[in-house]
Amino acid sequence: MNTIKVAILGLGTVGTGVYKLIQKRADVMERTAGAKLEVKKILVRNMQKKREGVEQELLTDNWKEILEDDEISVVIEVMGGLEPAKTMILEALEAGKNVVSANKDLIAEEGHVLLDTAQKNQVDFLFEAAVAGGIPIIRPLKQCLAANDISEIVGIVNGTTNYILTKMTEEGMDFADALKKAQELGFAEADPTADVEGLDAGRKVAIMASIAFHSRVVFFNVHTEGITKITARDIAYAKEFDSVIKLLGVAHNTENGIEVGVYPMMIRKEHPLASVRDSFNAVFVHGDAVDDAMFYGRGAGEFPTASAVMGDVIDVVRNIGYGCTGRISCTCYKDLPIKEFGQ
Ligand code: NDP
Ligand code: HSE
Repeated sequence: MNTIKVAILGLGTVGTGVYKLIQKRADVMERTAGAKLEVKKILVRNMQKKREGVEQELLTDNWKEILEDDEISVVIEVMGGLEPAKTMILEALEAGKNVVSANKDLIAEEGHVLLDTAQKNQVDFLFEAAVAGGIPIIRPLKQCLAANDISEIVGIVNGTTNYILTKMTEEGMDFADALKKAQELGFAEADPTADVEGLDAGRKVAIMASIAFHSRVVFFNVHTEGITKITARDIAYAKEFDSVIKLLGVAHNTENGIEVGVYPMMIRKEHPLASVRDSFNAVFVHGDAVDDAMFYGRGAGEFPTASAVMGDVIDVVRNIGYGCTGRISCTCYKDLPIKEFGQ
């Protein structure tokens, strides 16, 4: 059986989950991917940090060591941020390496550049984990629902804010304590402002809208409101109306253009989204053929996110086996107009 050598860029919440999953489920990986997986290098920033359960000799802070290693055919980018992640991904793709990434910040801004580069170099660039953590949503939008004219996507796509709102509603916890707990559990971004101000959800909406509407929606197009102004009084007020407050990401493809936004909304307790608690996410999609479809699961955290990353890695390894990497083009965009939100 072939051995595919991979590098992991970043060993934080997600990187650690990916590393552990590769070790723990080696047999399943072999069975499903048709090859053995070997982690050859892990890029970190701080070489002095204690990393329990990870062999020290795998660690490096030198990107060139990975880039110039021809044995490494898959790079898993789970470090986050725009730079140096963008440069590293582009260099890896140009060097003929396949890339799997969870980096929604980058994909929501530069996804088309990364996809074009992957296609040009006949390699894969996959990013299932970038939206809604462990929930399969990118692949369903790109492939399973490809026969549909998708008109609407509505969902809870940020685990941190859903966790905070759940704790405020059900346990009367205050905002700051709930955020601290979400950070401890590894749900929040390195800078949690991105979560609580709706930016993270906005990036995910941009990515989903681009794929679902075959268009080029970037984060800049998304109207965003967060939950920092939600008070205990708002929560109590919602309860009086048999409702809960949820942070919703919304994308509509209308006759007049695409409308994309993120905002907190009061929804009635009977609504399916009201029962999405803690760090869970849920995404509704409406397509002309499928009608309504809903995707539900854990939207953040070590193993749920690693699950999505590894699904992509297995796909890449299979494609390497069949000699067909870079086969799915995502570059057939229409330039649809973007509407001002709420107009
Ligand atoms: P963390 O902050 O926990 O980890 C980031 C890791 O990347 C750290 O190991 C850090 O190194 C390393 N790193 C950062 N910058 C550099 C650099 N310049 N050079 C080398 N290494 C670097 O982040 P997460 O694991 O939470 O998130 C990673 C990515 O996954 C992000 O894009 C995030 O948006 C995305 N994501 C996260 C989810 C989650 O639930 N946490 C869910 C879905 C996606 P060091 O350890 O030395 O500091
Ligand atoms: N910070 C993000 C969240 C991680 O809370 O949803 C998953 O993308």
